[in-house]
This record gives sequence, C-alpha cells and structure tokens, in this order.
Amino acid sequence: MIKLVRALSATFVLVFALTGSVCAAAAAPVSVRPGNALPTQFPQAPQCVCHRMLLSEWQESMHSKALDDPLFKFKVAEADKATGKKLGPFCRRCHGPVASITGQDGKADVSPAASQGVVCSFCHQVVSTGKPPLANVPHLLDLTGVMRAQLKDAQAPHFTQYSKLHTTSEICGGCHDVNHPGNGLALETTYAEWKKSPQAKQGIQCQDCHMSEEPPVVGPSTGYAAEGAPERPNIYHMTFAGAQVALGNPTRATALLKNAAKVELEAPEVLPAGGAEVSVKVTNVGAGHFLPTGLTEVRQMRLSVVVADADGKETEIGERVFGTEFKDKKGNHPAEIPDAVGVAKDDRIGPGASVSQKFKLTLPAGIQAADVTARLLYKSAPDELAKAAGVENPTTVMAEATKRVFATQEAKAADAANAGAGPSGSTGQAGSGGGLQKGAVPMCLGAAMIAAALAGIAFWRSRKGNGAGNE
Ligand code: HEC
Ligand code: HEC
Ligand code: HEC
Ligand code: HEC
Repeated sequence: MIKLVRALSATFVLVFALTGSVCAAAAAPVSVRPGNALPTQFPQAPQCVCHRMLLSEWQESMHSKALDDPLFKFKVAEADKATGKKLGPFCRRCHGPVASITGQDGKADVSPAASQGVVCSFCHQVVSTGKPPLANVPHLLDLTGVMRAQLKDAQAPHFTQYSKLHTTSEICGGCHDVNHPGNGLALETTYAEWKKSPQAKQGIQCQDCHMSEEPPVVGPSTGYAAEGAPERPNIYHMTFAGAQVALGNPTRATALLKNAAKVELEAPEVLPAGGAEVSVKVTNVGAGHFLPTGLTEVRQMRLSVVVADADGKETEIGERVFGTEFKDKKGNHPAEIPDAVGVAKDDRIGPGASVSQKFKLTLPAGIQAADVTARLLYKSAPDELAKAAGVENPTTVMAEATKRVFATQEAKAADAANAGAGPSGSTGQAGSGGGLQKGAVPMCLGAAMIAAALAGIAFWRSRKGNGAGNE
C-alpha cells in the first residue's frame, strides 16, 4: 500500500506538471499557468448581479457547491489520507478551478471566487480546451475580462465576445471526463459516452438537456440574458440540473431522473403452478450518456422487482444493481480511487440502449392475486457514505411498471367482477412520465417523435452556427 502511494505521488506530480495546468502552454491568446493569474482576474459570482436570475440558478446548482459539497469533502479527506495529501489538489482543480489557477489552493485565506466552486468567471473566460482527449481540466483561459458565451449582440458593462465553444459539449467535456492522475485510468466518462450517443449525432449538446429552462424540456428558450436586456429566443439557464436531489435543486433533479428511463414488464396474467418467469426491460430513453453516468462507482441505480399482497405489503423477489467497481493491482474490488488500476465490474445502460432481465415469480401459498412491480431506483451514494458525510440520501423512483397476476383463472375472473366497470388497475407498462411539455421537446421521446424533436434542436444549433441566433 505504502509503496503504491509513493508510486502514485511521484507520477502524480509529473502528470500534474505536464497536463495538469488548467491552462496548458498553447499558442492561443493569453494562456495562464497555475499561480500566474491574479485573484482579481476572477470576479466572484455575486458581482454578476445584472444576471440575477442566472445567478440564483447557479447558486442552486452543484457547480456552486462543488468545493463545499460534504460528499466531496468527505471523499477528498479519504483520498488525502491514503496518499499523504497528494490527491487533494488534483480533486480541487476541477471542483474549484480558480484557486488552482491563481495559486491559492490549500491556502487558508482565499479570494471569494476561489472558494465558489465552478464559478461563472471560470467558464466565461475559457477560450479553448486544447487538444483531445478532453479530461482533467485542459481549459485555456484568456484573462482580459472579456466574458464569452453564445450571444453575438450582447451589450454589457463588461467586454463580451461570441464563443462557439460555449455552444458545444466540449466546454463541459474537459471536466466531465476524469482520468486517474497516476495511471490514466478513465474514472468518469460522461463526455466520451455522449460523444458516441445518438443525441451527439443529432447535435444535441449537454447544454440542451442540463441548461434548459425547465428540465426535462430540452433546448434553449425565449428569455433575457440580463436585467434590461432585450428578449432573445436562444437563452440557456445556469441550472446545470443533474441527479443530486438532496444537495442540488430537487425539482429539476427529480424531473431529469424521472425522464431518463423506461421500464417494461412482461408476466403471464395467470401463473402456472410452480410459478413463471417475469421479464423486465429497462431502456435509457432520456440521457445522452450511460445510465448511470459520472461517478458510477458511487451512484446507486438499482432495478427492484416486488410483489405486493392485498394490504400493499411488498416483498422483493429480485434486483439488478447497475454501476461500476474499480479494482486494485491485486484484482481486489471494489477499490478506492487512489488504488484503482482497472475496472472490475461494469453494468450501465448506453444512450438509447436496453437491458433485459428475467426474474422467477411464484405467489405465496393462499395468495390468489397480487401486483408485481418493477422499479428503477436511484440514490446519489451508498447510505453508509451519505451518513458518514452527513448528507441526506433520498431514493428517487426513475420509472416503474406494474402488472396484476393471478394464481388461477377463477381468481382472475373474481378480480374482474370485483373491479366492476372500472379499469382493473393493471398497467402493463407504466410511465416514466415524459408527457409533452409546453411547446417544447420532452426528453422521453417516443420513437416516432424522435426525428421531429431532434430536428428542432438541430435547427437552433444551425441558427447559432449561421450567426443568426441572436436577432
Ligand atoms: C460550467 C460553466 C458555466 C458556468 C459555471 C456558468 N456559465 Fe453561463 N453559460 C455557460 C454556457 C456554456 C453558456 C452558453 C450555452 C449555449 O449557448 O449552449 C452560458 C450562457 C450564459 C449567458 C448568455 C445568456 C444565456 O443565459 O444563455 C450569460 C449571461 C451567462 N451564461 C452568465 C452566467 C453567470 C452570471 C453565471 C454565474 C452566476 C454563469 N453564467 C455560470 C457556461 C457556464
Ligand atoms: C438527451 C439529454 C441529455 C444529454 C444530451 C446529456 N445529458 Fe446528462 N443527464 C440527462 C438525464 C436525463 C440525467 C438524469 C439521469 C442520470 O443520472 O443519468 C442526466 C444526468 C447527468 C449527470 C448526473 C449523473 C449522476 O448520477 O450524478 C451529469 C453529471 C450529466 N448528466 C452530465 C452531462 C454532460 C457533461 C453531458 C454532455 C457531455 C450530458 N450530461 C448530456 C440527460 C442528458
Ligand atoms: C471546471 C470544471 C467543470 C466544467 C467546465 C463543467 N463542469 Fe459540470 N461539474 C463539475 C463538477 C466538479 C461537478 C460535481 C460537483 C459536485 O457534485 O460536488 C459537476 C456537476 C455537474 C452536474 C451534476 C449536477 C447534479 O445535480 O447532479 C451536471 C448536470 C453538470 N455538471 C453539467 C455541466 C455542463 C452542462 C457543463 C458545460 C456547460 C459543465 N457541467 C461544465 C465540473 C465542471
Ligand atoms: C476533472 C474533473 C474532476 C476531478 C479532477 C475530480 N472530480 Fe469529482 N466530480 C467531477 C464531476 C464532473 C462530478 C459530477 C459527476 C456526477 O454527478 O456523477 C464529480 C462528482 C464528485 C462527487 C459527488 C458529489 C455529490 O454531491 O454527489 C464526489 C464525492 C467527488 N466528485 C469526489 C472527487 C474526489 C475525491 C476527487 C479527487 C480524487 C475528484 N472528485 C476529482 C469532476 C471531477
């Protein structure tokens, strides 16, 4: 263990020096190396007060909390303990890049922006992400106070400039792909997953799903970039809605989670004596990357199949746990990041892809009718970790499907008679929500709708590309 830590820290310092600079020494405008930039070159978030609405959206997002996040702090403390404090600076470079760039990381008294996580003045001064592969914060910044985004006609009390980069997933990718600083193992791959997704082929960017006004609605909307600014048709929101229900904005996170997947359940209505197989199919219909994605060694996504008796009491008859596990060099798993050299287990669902699983179903003696339910559940972390870090850890039902099954034909007939004229309460395939949202494109797309929906987004994107986006 100690040996490995030493090896890690030696390579770590090297890798940090070579690729770690937030702004690599490329030819682009003004590149900055860590420690070379002045704290004053990064306005703190509250200074962006003309963008009051965007500011409050960002404040509710995990980007504003990335450094203060109790789960993050707990995991960094663990990683620091295992590596003699060598890993912390690597973690914080992405969770709070300004401190790194300005040489304030690890200091007790830092400038406000350096303690504000992934702050406005970081993203809006990015001019390039360097050469691929994008990972571990390769961004290049131009610190001349020019704020860059997708608008071509902005009139602000500060300098502004149009940036194509801000309209693409590439600006996100540099932080949403994470490689091990010691051995290069891919730890998080959200951007790489998106790059190969059907959504990427259609031109749907991270921004369309994660910065829309009201997820699960996809794409920009009509609105205002700042107080007093003209109404524009292509406004995005600094919500960065994700899946953190307890620490982020719960409404937006729940909306995304509930539109990510579809669950279908097949079971015979009347079970043969000795039971039957039920088949459950889970499809990733709404995410432009794997389900789960990101920190998949920590996230908890689980398919649970239960049978409910007449009183509604549920008994679990089977489960399937999705996610990944790292292994250490001896092959032991799960391994923590400092020791990780490979992936031991990987069960995730690609964008647009499905997985199916069969479960054995028998009704307990004496039970004539029961509801079988397949549920896809999500939690941000294992309960033990959440408890140790002192955060709540709610479970969200992403999607579910229920079917009523019977022990005999007679039981089925009796049930139908009881139900009278009303529906039997049996739904072969219950929803992941995903109904049409106001005048926009829902994420949970029926096959027939996909083309039309995607064409809408592509239209927006091409307008931007043509330079017609802001009129
Ligand atoms: C993680 C990076 C990131 C952070 C943090 C961020 N932004 Fe943005 N912002 C973007 C991107 C990317 C766009 C353009 C989206 C597009 O066109 O696809 C944008 C667009 C904008 C726009 C143009 C108008 C609009 O809403 O579309 C303004 C103004 C803006 N951001 C202000 C802010 C302010 C103020 C903050 C902090 C309170 C902030 N941003 C935080 C990435 C970021
Ligand atoms: C088609 C819509 C769509 C696109 C495109 C998309 N996402 Fe997502 N994303 C979702 C949905 C839905 C969820 C919630 C389900 C989940 O956790 O995966 C999500 C979840 C996430 C999460 C939280 C995962 C977790 O469990 O904590 C992150 C981080 C994320 N996306 C980042 C990105 C980035 C970065 C990109 C671009 C490279 C991107 N997404 C592209 C729809 C999308
Ligand atoms: C400087 C690095 C950086 C950049 C650039 C960046 N992110 Fe993030 N993002 C992070 C970090 C770090 C977190 C995790 C914060 C936490 O949970 O502690 C995160 C979290 C998220 C989440 C999960 C939120 C949740 O509630 O689960 C989403 C969604 C997301 N980012 C979207 C984006 C999008 C879209 C872009 C591009 C416009 C982007 N990010 C650019 C570093 C970055
Ligand atoms: C290059 C960028 C980057 C680096 C470096 C990085 N992270 Fe993250 N981290 C992210 C992103 C992006 C997310 C959001 C992914 C998701 O939602 O699944 C995240 C999420 C997390 C979360 C989940 C927070 C929550 O509230 O759910 C923890 C914990 C975390 N990171 C710990 C670490 C530790 C410990 C390190 C150092 C070993 C580290 N990170 C290094 C980008 C990074």
